[in-house]
Amino acid sequence: MKAAMQSRYGVPEVIEVREIARPMPQADEILVRVAATTVTLADTAFRKADPLIIRLFNGLFRPKTAILGDTIAGVVEAVGVAVSGFSVGDAVYGSVGPKLGGAAQFVRVKGNGAVVKVPAGVELAPLAGLAYSYLTAMPFMRDEGQVGPASTVLINGAAGSVGAVAVQLARHFGAEVTAVVSGRHEQMVRALGADHVIDRTQTDFTTARERYDVVFDAVGKSSFGHSRGALKTGGIYLTTVMGLGIVRDMLATRKGAKRARLATTGLRPEADKRRDLEVLNALLTAGAVRPVTDRRFALDDIVAAHRYVDGQTKAGDVLVTM
Ligand SMILES: NC(=O)c1ccc[n+]([C@@H]2O[C@H](COP(=O)([O-])OP(=O)(O)OC[C@H]3O[C@@H](n4cnc5c(N)ncnc54)[C@H](OP(=O)(O)O)[C@@H]3O)[C@@H](O)[C@H]2O)c1
Repeated sequence: MKAAMQSRYGVPEVIEVREIARPMPQADEILVRVAATTVTLADTAFRKADPLIIRLFNGLFRPKTAILGDTIAGVVEAVGVAVSGFSVGDAVYGSVGPKLGGAAQFVRVKGNGAVVKVPAGVELAPLAGLAYSYLTAMPFMRDEGQVGPASTVLINGAAGSVGAVAVQLARHFGAEVTAVVSGRHEQMVRALGADHVIDRTQTDFTTARERYDVVFDAVGKSSFGHSRGALKTGGIYLTTVMGLGIVRDMLATRKGAKRARLATTGLRPEADKRRDLEVLNALLTAGAVRPVTDRRFALDDIVAAHRYVDGQTKAGDVLVTM
């Protein structure tokens, strides 16, 4: 089978598509014929080992993970003898887990891992992107932000993968939603449910005063220090991006009237992710959330997909199809 592999950190060209043996599922695993995976800023950060802290858990000098790709959508090809709940031919999607391996024609996944069946009538491939965006956005909106009908929520980077789902979830929870984007993405975020749009090239959202319960910095481009004035008393600044600044701000604001939080959603237990994917299935069926796909690249063009994602101009998800 073909697989996208990386044996050193660096530019997109460190990725090679190679021919390797098809994996055999263990008794507690399913084998999925992958239809699509996604490339995200999280993938490009791991490819570059930027921030440096990535080297601490993914290999000091070379990446431990040979085959790239976390979230996938595909069709079950084989089922281990100890697995129940999946059959050959089922359309499935989700996260393959911390060992990755989704950027390949086949991948092994734990039968009790973060993978669920696709609801009837939903297109398969875009779910590879939505699984990443939603599994990141949902814990921020529901658990960290506790977003509800009385909330005023600002989402910075609302046109990105995570932001586009955060807008839909905040809207679903009944919040008043302000999306920060560059002007070209205004119509897109309004269609996703934003009540107000701030063009970041014209207006600095941090000049607002005591306006938001939650500032969700989906792309980690602002900071608690800058956003503090825009938060109401009791409000919270949430960011997806790890850095010394947010660690310091979290410690300093633990008991403060305005707080800062980073959540490491990627490291949540597989069982929690699976439960949330079941919630996503209900949201998809109800039409409350939909995938937003920017571009699709073939596996052989995954280097170009990484270059495109590195540019940080995409709106929604980038898919890599097999
Ligand atoms: N904490 C965790 O466990 C966890 C898990 C997964 C991902 N992450 C992180 O979450 C982040 C999510 O990114 P994503 O995948 O949603 O990003 P993305 O899709 O690549 O975001 C692209 C969008 O960012 C916007 N943007 C670019 N520069 C900006 C700026 N200076 N200010 C505001 N917006 C800007 C652009 O929209 P406009 O031109 O419209 O502004 C662009 O459309 C990544 O950094 C990823 O590493 C964290």
